[in-house]
Amino acid sequence: MAAQTLAQLQTVYLDPHTDTLVILDQTQLPLRTVYLSLTKQNDIRQAIYRLQVRGAPAIGVAAAIGIYLAAKDIQADTYDAFCQQFRAAKDHLASARPTAVNLQWALERMERVVQLHAACPPSSIIPALKQEALRIQQEDTDVCRAIGEHGLSLLHDGDGILTHCNAGQLATTRYGTALAPIHLGHERGYHFHVYADETRPLLQGARLTAYELQANGIPVTLLCDNMASQVMKNGWVQAILVGCDRVAANGDCCNKIGTSGVAILARHYGIPFYVCAPTSTIDFSLSHGGQIPIEQRPPEEVTTLWYQHSMAPQGIDVYNPAFDVTEHDLVSAIVTEYGIVRPPYTQSLARLAANHLQRA
Ligand code: MRU
Repeated sequence: MAAQTLAQLQTVYLDPHTDTLVILDQTQLPLRTVYLSLTKQNDIRQAIYRLQVRGAPAIGVAAAIGIYLAAKDIQADTYDAFCQQFRAAKDHLASARPTAVNLQWALERMERVVQLHAACPPSSIIPALKQEALRIQQEDTDVCRAIGEHGLSLLHDGDGILTHCNAGQLATTRYGTALAPIHLGHERGYHFHVYADETRPLLQGARLTAYELQANGIPVTLLCDNMASQVMKNGWVQAILVGCDRVAANGDCCNKIGTSGVAILARHYGIPFYVCAPTSTIDFSLSHGGQIPIEQRPPEEVTTLWYQHSMAPQGIDVYNPAFDVTEHDLVSAIVTEYGIVRPPYTQSLARLAANHLQRA
């Protein structure tokens, strides 16, 4: 696919003509560009669980559209009956993936719309839910662009940048979080070279980040995860940029499994480690990262998936957590849409919330 075409592709959106959730099926990339049009709650939950739509911001947008579509199917004569069915649908969608807090954040925003319509007939709630889902979709693009602007101020022309998993355009509605500064810099003539960890076991780095950057004409070298140390030792990396699925109030950052190892290496080699996270990813209800629920995935993702033959003996015990927590003292800065937050995070994140977030 041509570079310009990829930049124009939308990862997740509400189709205004068909009123369906459209997602670019990420399990098919990079070999095939397949769009799915979904309307049913079960199908949307499955698409999130299977990582056909993935990345914390993208699943938040998918869930917002998903709960709007689920609400359209509710048959209820009273507000209370509507709420009961709405909450059941919300819990069902929220259970698809436990770690990325954006999923719950988006669903809670949608529920607040329902609460604001307590005195109205159920039919009047649906258009308001649609508006809110579209707002969440549009805001994600604006937020990612702002993260890109702030993140770019941390980089220099010619930098080598290492990233883990995919926190790019494919994980959001546009630009990405960790890859947003790289996309914006590239548009403005910066010369970056990206080192993309392949990101075992689901290979988001190999299948998605390598594809997204290559298709956009940004120089990228693909690494096995265990090669990151050597690349840093070679002096090829001036900054690490990663995304995030949940930030605790003390700045502990939960992201794709393997991220904490990258942070430890970055500290060893004296390389700044930046986490790019929209404020929808910050969970002020958790005081530290040990409280973040870590998704466990099926063993077959380690032993079989993406390979023609099993890579391990039949019946082998497998440990397959999808995420890990990077302790806040390894994080040089957190880049949000409102600016760059530095340690000590308990104070700086609280200040950010007080200045910008009503829910703090
Ligand atoms: O399991 P995935 O592919 O959804 O994991 C994605 C990540 O870990 C991303 O880094 C994170 O969601 C941030 S995406 C902007």
